[in-house]
Amino acid sequence: MTKVSMKVNGKPVSGEIEGRTLLVSFLRDTLGLTGTHVGCDTSQCGACVVHVDGKAVKSCTMFAAEAEGCEVTTIEGMANADGSLSTIQQAFQDHHGLQCGFCTPGMVMSAAALLAETPKPTEAEVRHYLEGNICRCTGYHNIVKAILAASGQDVGDIGGDAIA
Ligand code: FES
Ligand code: FES
Repeated sequence: MTKVSMKVNGKPVSGEIEGRTLLVSFLRDTLGLTGTHVGCDTSQCGACVVHVDGKAVKSCTMFAAEAEGCEVTTIEGMANADGSLSTIQQAFQDHHGLQCGFCTPGMVMSAAALLAETPKPTEAEVRHYLEGNICRCTGYHNIVKAILAASGQDVGDIGGDAIA
């Protein structure tokens, strides 16, 4: 067993884990932060995306021990301090960027990382950035719309092509 310590959503946390424990398992099973989803466990779907030191990471592809000393943010850490939805979360709600919601935590985390890097992305940049996030419900159109809206752009006439 190995001791691991990191900050998750601004709070110091630690735990005794096996060396093979994935970050997603540490978050969900040890810390009870089940907002980070597991859709595939083979790095295909993006449901498990969190931020590690500000970068979007598929948490099923990283050992928890690799996050030692890092700052991790999960979907539970995305709301505003008063509990209200963040701008990106609100945009997903306003633009119907979700249906079943399974992909949504990963989509929101990827979107937030994109907007941190590129505050006013084009539609093509949004679609390209989301290539690692799969959604089985929405056809992606409203997810793209939500992200463009969250960046403060007009979403009246964006195209309708889905990501493969
Ligand atoms: Fe990590 Fe699907 S659960 S990419
Ligand atoms: Fe159902 Fe995306 S909203 S998988």
